Amino acid sequence: MNRVFVIGSINVDILMLSDHLPEPGETIKAGSFYVYPGGKGANQAISSARMGANTTLIGKIGNDYFGSLIKDFIGKENLNSIIMYGQKTGMAFINVDKNGKNMISVFSGANNDLREEDLKDIKIDNSIIMLQQEIPMDTIEYVIKTYGRNNLIITDPSPINEINDFVLSGSDYITPNEVEASKLSGMHINSREDAFKASEILYKKYQTNIIIKLGSYGSLLNNGNEIRYFKPSTVNARDTTGAGDCFNGAFAAMLTKTSDVNKSIEIANMAAALSVTEYGAFPSFPYLNDVKTKFNLNIN
Ligand code: RIB
Ligand code: NA
Repeated sequence: MNRVFVIGSINVDILMLSDHLPEPGETIKAGSFYVYPGGKGANQAISSARMGANTTLIGKIGNDYFGSLIKDFIGKENLNSIIMYGQKTGMAFINVDKNGKNMISVFSGANNDLREEDLKDIKIDNSIIMLQQEIPMDTIEYVIKTYGRNNLIITDPSPINEINDFVLSGSDYITPNEVEASKLSGMHINSREDAFKASEILYKKYQTNIIIKLGSYGSLLNNGNEIRYFKPSTVNARDTTGAGDCFNGAFAAMLTKTSDVNKSIEIANMAAALSVTEYGAFPSFPYLNDVKTKFNLNIN
């Protein structure tokens, strides 16, 4: 498997930085604001590309101002793309406070128009396919039915909504964060031990590799034979938006280079840690070289 395909969402993120997050009815002053492309699909694709994998992003944007902004940004990345047009470009409004905590509301727009018909002529074999939950569920099911047999599917159950057992069991890896793992397993996660237990419940249910992303607590892998815990790297968190996407993209990219899954998770952890030290989702995602330099790694 030497290629990565991401079939997913593309948004424009409007990011406002303020001292605290607004309460309902409150107007607050933002210290600064940024406009960046985002969306879980685009983020994961850019992370994978920056970490050195041959990556293709497949998704929909609007034929509008924000759509052309996305094209400009994406054109600067070393990324292949099949970008089609739908209704208005998807948008996310993101507030971030001084501790890096965020609040996000997303308008799906064109992402909701990505349908089975749009994928009919796209052949994908012997590759890694990455999915998230910001395109229609029918399309996600179609991807698993059509491409699942000849490819490795990594599914991010984020944002968690109507994801179903067919999608979860049909994936080769599922990568919930703590909140999503709680919802899927039906148990609260307050400690590393809880996360281990939740991964066992999830493995039993879906019979597939479970990676739980624990943010500043690291991550774990349950592959059915063992549960392995991966330590976090300590960093000064500015903005955690997209850190999970950065992790997934880096993980997939590493899997195109090595069959060592543990090593791939370790490196994905490092990439995600670097991403939270800067504002924005993908503008903060590291290149393979950054990770190598910062963590003294010897990889290609
Ligand atoms: O995971 C972060 C992403 O979620 C943001 O880029 C935003 O667009 C939303 O989709
Ligand atoms: Na960031």
